[in-house]
Amino acid sequence: MLLTIIYLLASVSFILGLKMLSNPASARKGNRIAAAGMGLAILGTIFLYEETDGTRLGNYGWIFGGLIIGTIVGTLAAKKVKMTAMPEMVSLFNGMGGACAALISITEFNHMAEMIHQPHDIILGDIFPASASYSAWVGQSVVILAGLIIGSVSFSGSVIAWGKLNGKIHDFAFKGQHLVNMLLFLIILGLAGWMAGVYKNANLTVFYLIFVLSLLYGVFFVLPIGGADMPVVISLLNSFTGVAAACGGFLYNNKAMLTGGILVGAAGTLLTILMCKAMNRSLLNVLVGSFGGGATAKIEGGKAPGNYKEITLSDTAVLLTYAHKVMIVPGYGLAVAQAQHACHELEKLLTEKGVEVKYAIHPVAGRMPGHMNVLLAEADVDYDHLLEMETANEQFSTTDVVLVLGANDVVNPAAKTDPASPIYGMPILEVELAKNCIVNKRSMKPGYAGIENDLFFQPKTSMLFGDAKKVLESITTEIKNL
Ligand code: TAP
Repeated sequence: MLLTIIYLLASVSFILGLKMLSNPASARKGNRIAAAGMGLAILGTIFLYEETDGTRLGNYGWIFGGLIIGTIVGTLAAKKVKMTAMPEMVSLFNGMGGACAALISITEFNHMAEMIHQPHDIILGDIFPASASYSAWVGQSVVILAGLIIGSVSFSGSVIAWGKLNGKIHDFAFKGQHLVNMLLFLIILGLAGWMAGVYKNANLTVFYLIFVLSLLYGVFFVLPIGGADMPVVISLLNSFTGVAAACGGFLYNNKAMLTGGILVGAAGTLLTILMCKAMNRSLLNVLVGSFGGGATAKIEGGKAPGNYKEITLSDTAVLLTYAHKVMIVPGYGLAVAQAQHACHELEKLLTEKGVEVKYAIHPVAGRMPGHMNVLLAEADVDYDHLLEMETANEQFSTTDVVLVLGANDVVNPAAKTDPASPIYGMPILEVELAKNCIVNKRSMKPGYAGIENDLFFQPKTSMLFGDAKKVLESITTEIKNL
């Protein structure tokens, strides 16, 4: 009874935590609440769980040994990680979740094998003849196999995604790879269907074959996808891990695990859909990989569409100081430069001088969902100063100066004007509507989509080259000296 209440509390904490994560102001608290709920569910399971014959878990040395090592590694990794490497870490942690789900399936299948005393030759149909118990075993093996396949794909796929994000693994594809992937997937499904009782004879060798093929499928599934599309893939794999964990919840009749798994599965799926929508790309387009692979990135036509003009630091300082309204557009480059604190300093200085300063946040600016919000929150930027894309777009025409900091694709007008562009249809921040637009980046190189940006060549735009952090610090110094 007490354990059921603990699981209920844990489930409520997950839902509450998830809800609070949707707002940067409450996100930290939400994270802590969900973590506390998870801690409670783990301790409850360790100390209160009883088998039907009354036996407790035991093996406390192993359990707490694992918990302590995991806690130390997780805490150190989370404390050390740089904002730009966050998707990498999420991917690795997600992979661990998938591996856990697969290991649960392996353990439980072996239990099933032990129970029927024939570890190497399980004859489901003979032992559980056409009766309710037979269908219960078929149900059980379906859940075990689903956990095994989804967990293994998520594990190996996440490890490849992690390797791609940190540059250790490069995109790799061969002709007909999608066909091979499809075939592999069908073989896995066929073997699993056969094992689950369609043909009543199944053995451990086939079970481990499914495991190995699933690991291989995870590798083949992620390898050809462009490195820069990894956040979408990680989110998808995250939802897989959730489903695999939910399978574990079914197996153990553990409500907290079930709720947690379903929430992760649903949240991961929604996030994947939202990211694709914000880029105006279908999931299939991301998975088949049509842009974003660093090595394949090309500037269309190979030549720049005109001349661009540069602006000096002192002119930028003057323009910003005498503006009524300034809109800052942060992008991936701001995160790379770790310029969020310098940016906040400039914002505070301008505000002191009576300038109205706002931030325009594009939903996929940066490399992961909410990247800019988290980055600016880290520098204590007031959340009320962040405008969502739709609101910002309404305000650009009344803005004196837009300061684009390390953003490129999310301000590229080709998304509206060039049907041939790979980003055509992606909603963008319409910075060209402002009276002046200053773009800070280090060079004329393209961004994530690997395409030229017309904005840089428009008459109202001035380029301010340099590392975002250094440039922001210099502008602040210039303004102080005015
Ligand atoms: P990008 O289009 O990648 O542009 C970033 C720009 O920052 C680059 O052009 C780069 O130019 C500049 N930069 C790099 N380091 C810099 C530094 N130290 N100082 C100043 N500038 C620097 O970024 P974005 O506009 O934020 O767009 C995000 C892209 O990622 C979109 O295409 C989006 O679809 C994609 N994406 C996002 C997500 C999520 S959820 N956020 C997920 C998947 C894909 P230089 O090299 O010339 O400096």
